Amino acid sequence: MSKFVINGGNKLFGEVTVQSAKNSLLPLISACILIDGKVTFLNCNKLNDVCVMLDIIKALGGSYSWNGSSLTVDCSSLTSYELPKELTSKIRASIFCLGPLLGRFHKALFFKSGGCDIGERPIDLHINGLTKLGAEFSLGDVIYSRVDEVIGSEITLPFKSVGATENIMMLASVCKGKTVIKNCAKEPEISNLAELLRRAGGEIYGAGTDVIEVYGVPKLKSNDIVFTPVPDRIETGTYLLSTLSTGGEVTIKNCIFSHNVALIKKIYNNACKISINNDKIYIKSMGVGNSLGFVKTAPYPGYPTDLQTPLVAYASTLNGMTIVHEGVFSSRFNQIAELKKMGADLTVVKNRVVIEGVRTLYGATVTALDLRGGAGMVIAGLKAHGQTVINNAEIIDRGYYDLEGKLRSLGADVTRIHDEI
Ligand code: UD1
Repeated sequence: MSKFVINGGNKLFGEVTVQSAKNSLLPLISACILIDGKVTFLNCNKLNDVCVMLDIIKALGGSYSWNGSSLTVDCSSLTSYELPKELTSKIRASIFCLGPLLGRFHKALFFKSGGCDIGERPIDLHINGLTKLGAEFSLGDVIYSRVDEVIGSEITLPFKSVGATENIMMLASVCKGKTVIKNCAKEPEISNLAELLRRAGGEIYGAGTDVIEVYGVPKLKSNDIVFTPVPDRIETGTYLLSTLSTGGEVTIKNCIFSHNVALIKKIYNNACKISINNDKIYIKSMGVGNSLGFVKTAPYPGYPTDLQTPLVAYASTLNGMTIVHEGVFSSRFNQIAELKKMGADLTVVKNRVVIEGVRTLYGATVTALDLRGGAGMVIAGLKAHGQTVINNAEIIDRGYYDLEGKLRSLGADVTRIHDEI
């Protein structure tokens, strides 16, 4: 266990480079289950969730190796279709292995998957979609699934689920015939996954739009594919908001501007300068901005739910009232009580939080309750007067690699302290 100790008040200055997106890398690794041969991913970090996914691959009989920031995954010799309980309970993304295992072995055994506590996280959309492709499920503590023949179908998702879109797309890529996924999610990570599947021989069209068409092929194969996952738009957003909160001037490298439009639209022209130069975003704070008005999180290209708490932390010290409506998860306001300990004026009303801007926040001892909530606490700590101690810092490591080191390189006073056992 570890904690972050932040002495707030330092403005952030300099350059920082964004890692490959965790939310891309996790489904990409699970897609390797379907791919015969080695796939090398570039610009990766040993994020905690990525390490758990790799442990799952190993437990299934696959292998992986790191060479600096290059990660090679080889699932040619996979032997097992059983996802180990102790690993699946650690990450929600273990559910991404379901479609690929059904495609590879025509059967899969798994347990309820884990992840951050951000409200109900059912898997009905995954199960219903895979059922449409021919899979059968026996549901209990242990979930067993089998499929005689994967046959293409038309599937309309009732909600734009990222994971369900990815799972269905992966199984459909080795089905017999054509699959159409309607009302699918459009996140950049989905287009990225489709690109890998295509590189391995898959026939997928429309990823990134509301309708994906998949023409099944018998097998996916790699001739030593080298693949770069998309940059992490949530990490980019975290630096944008940290810079504005502290009043600094930072160039963020390895970004895709279009992936962050929803956030940039909210902060643009509000006491800051933003400019884009190829894969770099430059941001300069020009003082304390005005309230952001009404912000609603929504599936991409809407404002990302993963940047909801970071935005709440930032908006806590703006002039005036901001209202943030959580439109993706049933409850994602766990972190609000912790932010209030730092002096934020926040009121939760159903799925909304009303933020009355205060002049400043004050250092306190708080706890990171989920990954992105933890990132929000870091933004609050960077802004606050005095010292903030954030317990449970390792939950932040699930999605940010060496966040404290990167922030320190920008001038923040952040250290990690390992708890005595
Ligand atoms: C992914 C991201 C997560 C992000 C989320 C929404 C990864 C590894 N994680 O999670 O960081 O916060 O997208 O952008 O990519 N739902 C159901 N039934 C299902 C599946 C989902 O009701 O079977 C609901 C969820 O409860 C939630 C909504 O759909 O309310 C969106 O969830 P989904 O897009 O599936 O999120 P994940 O893929 O789990």
